[in-house]
Parts: sequence; structure tokens; C-alpha cells
Amino acid sequence: MSKQIIHPATALSGGVLMPGDKSISHRYAMLAALAEGTSELRNFAAAADCHSTLGCMKSLGAEVKVDGTTVRVTGHGLRGLKSSWRALDAGNSGTTIRLLSGILAGQNFKTTISGDESLQKRPMKRVVGPLREMGAEIKARDDNFAPLEIRGGKLRALDYKMPMASAQVKSAVLLAGLFAEGETIVTEPARTRDHTELALEEFGVPVERNARVTRIHGAGANGSIKLAAKNLNVPGDISSAVFFIAAASLFPESSVLIQNVGLNPTRTAILDVFASMGASIQIHSVQSTHGEVVGDLAVKGASLKGGVISGDTIPLVIDELPMLAALGPYTEEGIEIRDAGELRVKESDRITVLVENLRKMGATVEERPDGLKVAGRSAGKLRGAEIEPHGDHRIAMAFSIAALAADGPTTVRDAECAGVSFPSFYEDLNRVAER
Ligand code: S3P
Repeated sequence: MSKQIIHPATALSGGVLMPGDKSISHRYAMLAALAEGTSELRNFAAAADCHSTLGCMKSLGAEVKVDGTTVRVTGHGLRGLKSSWRALDAGNSGTTIRLLSGILAGQNFKTTISGDESLQKRPMKRVVGPLREMGAEIKARDDNFAPLEIRGGKLRALDYKMPMASAQVKSAVLLAGLFAEGETIVTEPARTRDHTELALEEFGVPVERNARVTRIHGAGANGSIKLAAKNLNVPGDISSAVFFIAAASLFPESSVLIQNVGLNPTRTAILDVFASMGASIQIHSVQSTHGEVVGDLAVKGASLKGGVISGDTIPLVIDELPMLAALGPYTEEGIEIRDAGELRVKESDRITVLVENLRKMGATVEERPDGLKVAGRSAGKLRGAEIEPHGDHRIAMAFSIAALAADGPTTVRDAECAGVSFPSFYEDLNRVAER
């Protein structure tokens, strides 16, 4: 397993391009496989997770051609998927297994889907429950974990009130709803990312939305919903951009331009959090593309204040919390994260793993069941350490950034796990970090 040594930096400068958004790439790949004809998806995520989705769609009978970041997917219509003779492999990707479970629930065949060791520890009851209510037969290890064996078929529509704020659960139910008889309604307890809704609309499926309630009319047994193949550009991933925003903020002399970043309003709460902490981020060249919004971010160094992140903001910044926590020791007041128990069921138990690695670097941290409290600058400067990301890409990247302003070099073990979302992360970081 590869290690990366991160040396302290003095500033960040230059331009960086983010890889295509992971969430959007998954959805475009799945819907393109349900459309009739060939869709061309440009700036498709380099992320290993999205390539897991492509592999699954290929096993289900879609043709997939990858040419760098341009991916062509040829689908055979809503009823065009075929059973796969082998189990589908979602790798490390929760989005792949959960969203695809919704699609598989609507198929007249049986599929087994699983993933790596980390994915096999993540809860699946949250999608298995509502999909069973819609009529799918699903077996799961201990009734909660992958491998999942899904025998799909005729589904009935569901009026589902989600117990947790999860875009993956919402999406699984909506995608199953696409095949069901009648109108499926999903109500979320707090707003989550809406890329599935926007992508469905882009492929020609009407979705009705009103605050936290989303409705979709299913095709049913004789329905005639048709998804039209599309040529789409995937915006750059704001969750990847956050590592460069954080890094640039650490040094007064920094000036970085991050181009073509996705600015969907259900993903930009992180920019508001940074702004409230005193970060210097200017947004330029905002454009709309296929229902999504993109723009460039110009980031300069700033003295970050820190603060508390909690409540309805949490689901909107869920993937950015590791980076915020790792920035805590460089802020004036420190960072406190509350109401974020979901962090414990991500690619790792992110609360425990953040606390473990922050302490290795000398930070003062309090672990809580639903979050953590990281003391600010007055508790002392971080020192280089050996980071153990436990296979979690966002942990590896968050501590690589924290390491830039620490005393002495930091070693990140198993550093290549960053490729789950951002394969060129270290290369891009080394290009813009001044030493
Ligand atoms: C995602 C939703 C979030 C997020 C994950 C991607 C998506 O998960 O953490 O990285 O693409 O829908 P949850 O739905 O479990 O909160």
C-alpha cells in the first residue's frame, strides 16, 4: 500500500480543475443505461466509485465505452436491462449499491450486488425496507448488510417518509418509483442533494417537487415512460474542491482559481460555512448546464474563525465535514460538529477516525456520539504524524491538507485510497503547493 509524504507548504497558487462530480456521474451513468440510444457523458468522474457504477451497468447489458473522461453509454430503454450471470461489484461505493438497488427492485430478474469490506459493513436496511414495501424481494446478510440479493418485479408506488436525511435513500425510492404502478412520494426530514431529480428531468422524466416532498409517476406494468439519450457535461466536484479551498485558506499569500465547479444549491452550503468562518471565496462565471449550475471559485488566504456546524446544515455538508474538522486546530475558536451521527456509517466511522488522527497530530479533541469538538489555534500547533485513513478517501485527503500547515512532514498511509473520489489529488496538490 502506497504512502505519501506531505511536507509543509507556504502558500497555494495557480489554477486547478476538479474531476467530474461523483454524485452526478453515478446518476447520469445509471439513467443513460435506462435510456434508448447512446448518451455521451463528458467530464465523467475519474473516481473509482463511478467506474464501479459503469461496471455494474455494463454487467446489466448497457454498452459502455470509456475514452478518458468522456464516457458513452448505450441503453436499451427502461425495460432493456438484462440479468447478470455474475454478482455486481459496487466496490467502495454506497451510492452505487443503494441507487442501483432501487433500479434492480424494478427488474423481472434476480441480481446479487456486493462490494468491498468497508461497503459490506455499511447499513442497507435503509433502502431494503422501503424497497420491500414496494414489492421487491430482498435478502441481506443479517437483514442489513451486503451482499444483497434482489428479486425485482412488479412494484407498487409508495408514500415514504424517510427516517433519516439521505440523498441515497431518497434516490433509491425514486428510481424504484420510476418502475412502479402509480405515484411514489418521498418526504425527507431535511433537504438533501437533488441530483437524481434533476437528472431524471434531464432524461425526460417529470418529477414534481415542493420543499422536502418529491413525487414521481411510475411506468407501471404497461406504462410507456421513455428516457431519451442525452449528451451531458458533468460539473467539477465541489466536494473535491473543498480540499483546495481549505488548503488555500491556510496561508495568507495563497491565490487559487478552481474552475468549472458544480454549484447546485443543495451542495453549496459548504461555501456559506466557509464564508461564515471568514474565508475569502469569490464566485465567477456562473452558468447553468443541464439543470445543474457551474462556476469558478477564486480563493485567497484568510484567518479562519471556526464555529459550530449542526442541524439541517449537516446533510448539506456531510461529505465536507472531515475537511472542516481537520481545519479546526487552525481556526481561532475551533470547530464543533453536532447532529452528525451519520458520519459513523460512511466509508469509515469518520468521527472515531478523525479523532484518532487529529490526536496523532497533537490536536485537542472531544469525541461525541454525534460529532466532535476540535480546539482552535490557542491549543497549540499541529505536528507532522503518521496518518491512518482506514481506507477512507476523504480522511486521507483532509489530513494531507492539515499536514500542509503542520510542523514537520506527515506520512499518509494507504494514500491511494484518495482515488475512490479523486485519483489525481496528490499530483494536483503538489502542483499548486508552494514550498
Ligand atoms: C450521496 C449522498 C450522501 C453522501 C455520499 C453521496 C449521493 O450519502 O455522503 O457521498 O450521491 O447521493 P447519504 O445519502 O448516505 O447521506
